[in-house]
Amino acid sequence: MENNGQPNKKSKWTIASSLMARRTYNPIRAVVDGMKLEPNPEKELISLSIGDPTVFGNLGPSQEMKDAVKKALDSGKSNGYAPSVGYEAGRAAVAKRFSLPDLPLDSKDVVFACGCSEALEMAILVMANPGQNVLIPKPGFSLYWTICTAYNVDTKYYRLLPERSWEVDLEHLESLIDENTNSIVITNPSNPCGSVYSKEHLLDICEVARRHRLPIIADEVYANMVFSNTKFYSVASLADEIPVLTCGGLAKRFLCPGWRMGWVLMQSRTGAFHEEVRKGLFNLSTRILGPCTLIQAALPAIFDNTQPEFYSHAMEVFEENAKLAYKTLHEVDGLTPVMPQGAMYLMCGLDSEYFRDIKDDQDFVEKLMCEESVFCLPAKVFEYPNFFRIVLSVPPEKVKIACQRIKEFCIRHKKNL
Ligand SMILES: Cc1ncc(COP(=O)(O)O)c(C=O)c1O
Repeated sequence: MENNGQPNKKSKWTIASSLMARRTYNPIRAVVDGMKLEPNPEKELISLSIGDPTVFGNLGPSQEMKDAVKKALDSGKSNGYAPSVGYEAGRAAVAKRFSLPDLPLDSKDVVFACGCSEALEMAILVMANPGQNVLIPKPGFSLYWTICTAYNVDTKYYRLLPERSWEVDLEHLESLIDENTNSIVITNPSNPCGSVYSKEHLLDICEVARRHRLPIIADEVYANMVFSNTKFYSVASLADEIPVLTCGGLAKRFLCPGWRMGWVLMQSRTGAFHEEVRKGLFNLSTRILGPCTLIQAALPAIFDNTQPEFYSHAMEVFEENAKLAYKTLHEVDGLTPVMPQGAMYLMCGLDSEYFRDIKDDQDFVEKLMCEESVFCLPAKVFEYPNFFRIVLSVPPEKVKIACQRIKEFCIRHKKNL
């Protein structure tokens, strides 16, 4: 073929994906897409796998939230671009909501993002350079690893301890720190564990960060989502001199993950974040230009008008389901559920020694799906094999049926000891 009289170097079209795209990998998709997942046609499918509280239709945004978005749409004032960090009024509303008595926030301390996912990406990338490492929990939300790996930032997993309600193994955490460590990610309350850390434990984690002068990235997308008799403490409320980038959003507490509203809060009592990180976050915000302006515009009314019963109702559902699932699974030989204290998940240990023909968590999940049409997530996707995670936002009657089916499945596959 000729091109201006010059022969083309390539004889056919070959478009390679970039190295970054090839490095970008979400373990959840990779594991789930590779699984043999044919439900039993004779049983209704119950999926306990997706961390989306709206999928079963029993939970969703409040009327006040929907009205706020409708109003934003009808006003005709939110159809254009917002400032890349977000509308001033919405950021001021977030600042007001998350201000602490000794750590007040201003709208300039808030940067909007497309969901907590983008908030996490910004928080990690505003500080970490390629070759540095970020400490992340295991088991943990896989996105931390996905973001870091795509940008050549290393990760090191610190251990969580199931026998201590998934507290951080502090010695292990500290042993991982080296001169290239950039920051520590803490997920509280946790996906996938449903753990909620006590004030004392968070202070212990902060002490490790303080000793090594490491900033904390606090993933608090489940902030305040705790069961009865449990109190939520934000990392920033206990961090003293440690700079904290807190990531949050509407997705879980406001039951609207599809609205993609998230934020990063710059919380520092020493001014350690001043100008450098603030400017860096501003720079990063100019890549995507913020979440949907209708939701941004609705945010002040969403905060002001949502009633306490809205939050408490969802938490009652999650807690009832947690108790129900824990009770049933606890009775089953070979299973060790860990009772959560918040968020919307329960992790259950699996001892394959008790079973005739179950190799590991993935095998368990596949066979359970084929025989019982119940789908759970193998904790392999959270770097924690031999556990599986169930979601607690499903209607309680379905959790009951699903756990009963898990129990019968386990009995059927039990090894004759
Ligand atoms: C711990 C954790 N952080 C962040 C996110 C992402 O939230 P968003 O849907 O707002 O992007 C999730 C979603 O499941 C999560 O579980």
